Amino acid sequence: MGFFRRFSFTIVLICVFASLVFLPGHTLAAVTINKVTVTFHGDTTTTKGFTWYTETTSSRSDVQIVQKTGSKPDFTNAINFVGRTALSTNSSVSTGTGYPPNPRENVHKAEATGLKPGTTYFFRVGDAALGAWSEPGTFQTAPLHGAFSFIFLTDTQAKEKDEAILSSQTIAKALTTVPRAQFIVLAGDWVDTGKVETQWDWLYGNALPDNAKASFLQTTLLPAAGNHEKDTNTFMEHFDIVPAAGSPTTTGAYYSTNYRNVHFITLNNNENSAEYADFTPAQIQWLKNDVRAARAAGYDWIIVNMHKGPYTTSNHATDADIIGPNGVRTMVAPLFAELDVDLVFQGHDHIYARSKPLKAGAAVPAKKVTELLNGKSIEYTVSPEGTIYVIPNTAGAKVYYRNKTIDPNYFNLFEVANEHPAAAYGADPADPTRPVRGQIQNFMGITIEGAKLTAVTYEIDQSKNNAQPYIVDQFGIMKKKSSLRR
Ligand SMILES: [Fe+2]
Ligand SMILES: [Fe+2]
Repeated sequence: MGFFRRFSFTIVLICVFASLVFLPGHTLAAVTINKVTVTFHGDTTTTKGFTWYTETTSSRSDVQIVQKTGSKPDFTNAINFVGRTALSTNSSVSTGTGYPPNPRENVHKAEATGLKPGTTYFFRVGDAALGAWSEPGTFQTAPLHGAFSFIFLTDTQAKEKDEAILSSQTIAKALTTVPRAQFIVLAGDWVDTGKVETQWDWLYGNALPDNAKASFLQTTLLPAAGNHEKDTNTFMEHFDIVPAAGSPTTTGAYYSTNYRNVHFITLNNNENSAEYADFTPAQIQWLKNDVRAARAAGYDWIIVNMHKGPYTTSNHATDADIIGPNGVRTMVAPLFAELDVDLVFQGHDHIYARSKPLKAGAAVPAKKVTELLNGKSIEYTVSPEGTIYVIPNTAGAKVYYRNKTIDPNYFNLFEVANEHPAAAYGADPADPTRPVRGQIQNFMGITIEGAKLTAVTYEIDQSKNNAQPYIVDQFGIMKKKSSLRR
């Protein structure tokens, strides 16, 4: 009888344990994988970086990947990569009045390395010891040859849950409209307040059922920090990127990324100095060295991604940090032309604008070739001597009128410098200095095929075309074949 009593007791213990582990709501260490992003991390043909958040009960950081051969992943024989875990900075930060306190969370980072170029993989991130995994996602490694496409959008920047849904819908529509896009470049202002973790959760976490979570599981991000992400460590913790060697990363990050024949430079506008508004001399020196090294290495295209750009057409175009004696237009824009930067992606000013090729503050005449694309004509500027600047309005809600205080001659520097189309819908009832929020969003699809860059700008008007994107602008740049070295 003693044996059976002990046996029964053991069975009861096993049942209690099993109920704790397996019954919903009674898991021993319930862990939710949250806020997953995939980023470039070093060599884009072989490596990816991953970031995610969990409760502090998960201390492991595991990524599993398996090559995509069918529609569903089987992680049985997946390759496992182990990363690192830390308590997130926002866990210890007060959000101030009006926002919920930040949760205590671990932030996890890991890299998948040794991947095959031009290949699509399934992945999941989580904690192998706890058996807690994210939903599966996919990513592609950079190809060694051929054309590629990507999306450029900016300023998702939601102040409310509904605005996060709106920004997420823009991202989803962009991925549907540019189905071959291999990544998304975002020029900052991801959220409205970087230290409010809830806002990150609204955009792509588990907080909302129909936000950008699914989109971000299916693409790779090339992020810049906006001024709304300058809070301590906010930018660096949400994205697993490789900052420039020895560079500070508290307010954001500057770094470069090679993808096929393009050298992308991401700048951090959240620095400052007497010499350069929004930058330190160290960042500017790095920029010069980095561009020259990329040209020497034979990259055909240099594209800069920055939040507070020098050539936009709305409120911020006349800010002191742009037009002052040490401002970005005054001090940094001339450098871009000198360094032979082809294209500058900008955010921050929440309006659509596209410049002519600019050098030393003036438009440079250039030969153009006209072709037909999407049933419309498209002009390709041929080997321009200057740098072209573009800002794709916003992917989210907030919009600005065109600048009314600036000398109107300034707009002659632009190919497109229209009043914001949201202005036709009247002023924002809560702020008459701005057009109505939430009406108009934009994004761009860009394809680079050797010496030819083609950019198509899409607009979403919530009252037109069933809120589906339509083309409002398209342009291109062509280089002489002889300049190609890759
Ligand atoms: Fe913004
Ligand atoms: Fe901004």
